[in-house]
Amino acid sequence: MVEEIERVKTYIQGFDEALQGGIPKGHLILISGTAGSMKSSLTFNILFNEAKAGRVGLYISLEQSYDSMYKHFLNMGMNLDLINIQHINDLGKIDEVVNATKSSDKGTIVVADMGCIRKEIKDIKVGDNKSWLNVIKNIVKKVKMETACTNFVLDSLSALYTLSRFEAPRVELFYIFEFLRDMGLTTYLISEMPLDRSKYSQYEIEDFLADGIIYLRLTPFRRNIVREISIVKMRATDCNNDVFSLEFKNAQFSALYGGQNPLL
Ligand SMILES: Nc1ncnc2c1ncn2[C@@H]1O[C@H](COP(=O)(O)OP(=O)(O)OP(=O)(O)O)[C@@H](O)[C@H]1O
Ligand SMILES: [Mg+2]
Repeated sequence: MVEEIERVKTYIQGFDEALQGGIPKGHLILISGTAGSMKSSLTFNILFNEAKAGRVGLYISLEQSYDSMYKHFLNMGMNLDLINIQHINDLGKIDEVVNATKSSDKGTIVVADMGCIRKEIKDIKVGDNKSWLNVIKNIVKKVKMETACTNFVLDSLSALYTLSRFEAPRVELFYIFEFLRDMGLTTYLISEMPLDRSKYSQYEIEDFLADGIIYLRLTPFRRNIVREISIVKMRATDCNNDVFSLEFKNAQFSALYGGQNPLL
């Protein structure tokens, strides 16, 4: 008998079914898409629903501040009172966040934004272009070791490249993926896709290192734009690679499919 693989749902109606129920636990997934294709919303929505089920997730945002994210998710109709949301605004106080996560009777999303990381880096010697990466690794290690964290979102890999200036990106990325794999978290790495959609990730080696790629895009259709989602690859999964149209209504994502043009 084939052993059941434990999976994390994407919480997109119709899409989990295309993934044999969800993403295999512990996988490293690239969430690749053009600007505004709802990469952040979709991954935060996974952590939100996992937190509603009592679990802990970590969201590191190098693009948007905590306040900007919070407003966006409220506007999307997420009832953030249902979960425990913890913002690390000073890494010196990370123990408080860890304790509040451990003692909460609700599931938690721990959010670290670039503000708190920048504050920490000011104290590190100038010219050390690995500091962003090191601070991120330390946050992941601490939250993973001291809480029951199971899911991790890095928003975004592209921003990390800008901040870190890798000298040998292919080698460095290999070790970053190794580090993340060792952490054992189901990990979602957001990757900004260029407008010409020529590649899923900046150095392309990420495509091979990742266990799965989910591709989001905005496609012009007549005079409208249609949101679309598809699975490019997913290891250990018999997946349906068809292109679905992605809808967000009443705080719920759905992937619609019918083999016809999406309804407009
Ligand atoms: N109910 C809603 N509330 C707010 N935004 C919504 C809603 N429904 C759809 N959106 C759209 O979500 C988009 C932003 O989503 P999100 O920030 O998750 O995208 P992204 O791919 O992460 O973008 P970026 O490239 O800026 O990081 C906006 O363009 C907005 O129009
Ligand atoms: Mg985003």
